[in-house]
Order: sequence, then structure tokens, then C-alpha cells
Amino acid sequence: MPTQEREKSTEATFDNLLARIQALEIEVSSFSESERNTVNALRLSIDALNKEAFARLIRALKSNPAALSAMKDAIKDDLVYSVLRHHELIKPALAERIEKALASVRPFLESHGGDVELIAVEPPSSVTIRLKGACSNCPASDLTLREGVEKAIREVCPEIVEIKRASSLPGGQCASSGQAIAFISPFADQSEAGWLFAAAFEAIPDAGVGVFDVQGRSILLSRFGEKITCYENACAHMGMPLDGGVFKDGILTCPHHQFQYHLESGECLTAPEVQLHTHAVRVKGKDVEVKLS
Ligand code: FES
Repeated sequence: MPTQEREKSTEATFDNLLARIQALEIEVSSFSESERNTVNALRLSIDALNKEAFARLIRALKSNPAALSAMKDAIKDDLVYSVLRHHELIKPALAERIEKALASVRPFLESHGGDVELIAVEPPSSVTIRLKGACSNCPASDLTLREGVEKAIREVCPEIVEIKRASSLPGGQCASSGQAIAFISPFADQSEAGWLFAAAFEAIPDAGVGVFDVQGRSILLSRFGEKITCYENACAHMGMPLDGGVFKDGILTCPHHQFQYHLESGECLTAPEVQLHTHAVRVKGKDVEVKLS
């Protein structure tokens, strides 16, 4: 075989690497139980070693803004993304998380003959969705969108600020047309459930962070222009309170062992595999309300 062709056939593409792994998995599945356990233990040990090495590499890159930007570009590569996701070193892509949020409300919508689809994601903070079927033309669709779909998206993706609604496709009809139930959103019952006053909007300094108490829980509210984020006041390292830490350029440093967090995203810059505990948050009039999770 000519050298060029040989090199092409052994090229490390995503597909042929996956095919090689799948072929080996089939071979291993024919081993005895004790042999399979040994192979599995070996695989887990190698995974743990690789994960630790990748975590150290990411930690080092994150401390350099230019390297951080190069790393974000590199993650756009499917292979790099898949391996880092496998090791839980990066969050699922925004579109993946939004699809997960939509999947969580789909059963409610389907029970009313409706559905929702993701039309576009415009990182970092905007998404367009479309209500379909019965939900698209139902007079309660605004409530469905606001209290069902938007809520689900914001809980899973707190960085999303804008949720745009694409116009309905022709033919959307309310399944219960003519009956009183036609105008009831599937989320109407739970629309206001669980939201708690946390603070006045003006009490949260812009580009700053404040600590507040809600029903005995200590939370952090940070503000970036119109966007508010809410986290449990507990470090992802050892759960100790984060208030009292230094907050600079959107980054909060834990006063105990100096773990650092980017408060707009909740991402931990020190250990990429951990994140702050996020709570749903909304601005209602002059108030900031949270739903504790
Ligand atoms: S408890 Fe925050 S860094 Fe250890």
C-alpha cells in the first residue's frame, strides 16, 4: 500500500478511534467475568489518570486569558469536546443543556397536545424556541412559555438571559378547543409556586455580589447589568461560606483555600470538575426572587 494511503487508513479520526474502541469492547464482552473485571479496573485507572492530567492542564490554561481563549476554541473540536465531557471536565454544550431542559417540560406539553422545539442558540445568553401543536395558538401560550419552558431553561442554563419565541407554524390548534381547559397552561398550577423574595434589585450592586438570607438559607446574589445569578453560599471545595472572599472582575475567591469562581456562569476556575450550587432567580418588578433547589 502506498505510504500516503497507509497513513490515511491509520489516521486518528473520531470515527476510526471509536470503531477501534467498539471492536475491543465486543472482544472483551466474550471474556470471563473475572477477566472483564480486570479490564474494567484497568480502564477506570487509566481514565482516572487521564482525568487528573486533563484537569491540571485546564487549571493551568485557565490562569492565562490568551490560553483560556485558545482552549475554548479547541473545545469546539468534537473529539476534544467528547473526551473532556467523558471526564466531566466541561459542562455540556449550551444546546445540549437546553435540549435537556425542553425534554423535562415536554411531557406536560404533550399531555395538552403541544410540544416545543429548539430553533437556535446564540451563545452566550440567547435562545430561540417555538411552541408547537396545541400550545402554539392557545391563549395560555404566554404563560406556558414563561412559567414552563422559560423556567426550565433558566434552571438548567442560568446564563440564558433572553428567550425568544419563533412564530408558530401554520396549523397549530388547541387540542381542547371549545372547552374551558383550552385556555389553561399545563404550568398554570405551579406557575408561582416556590418563588421567594430574596432582595430588592437595587440592593445588589452592579458588577458586585451580596449575601442574603432566604428562609434560613444563605445565598449569594450577583449582578451583571440586568442579569442576576444566584448560588448557595457554600464553596464547592469543602462547603464553607464564600462571603468574605475577594470579588474582582466577576471572580470570587473563597476566603478559606482560595478556590476561584466565575460568578456569571458559576464555573470553578480552580477545579473545572466542580461548580457552585445554582438556584433559579428572576426579577419581578423591583424585587429579586429565587426558587431554592
Ligand atoms: S472551602 Fe473554599 S476553597 Fe476550600
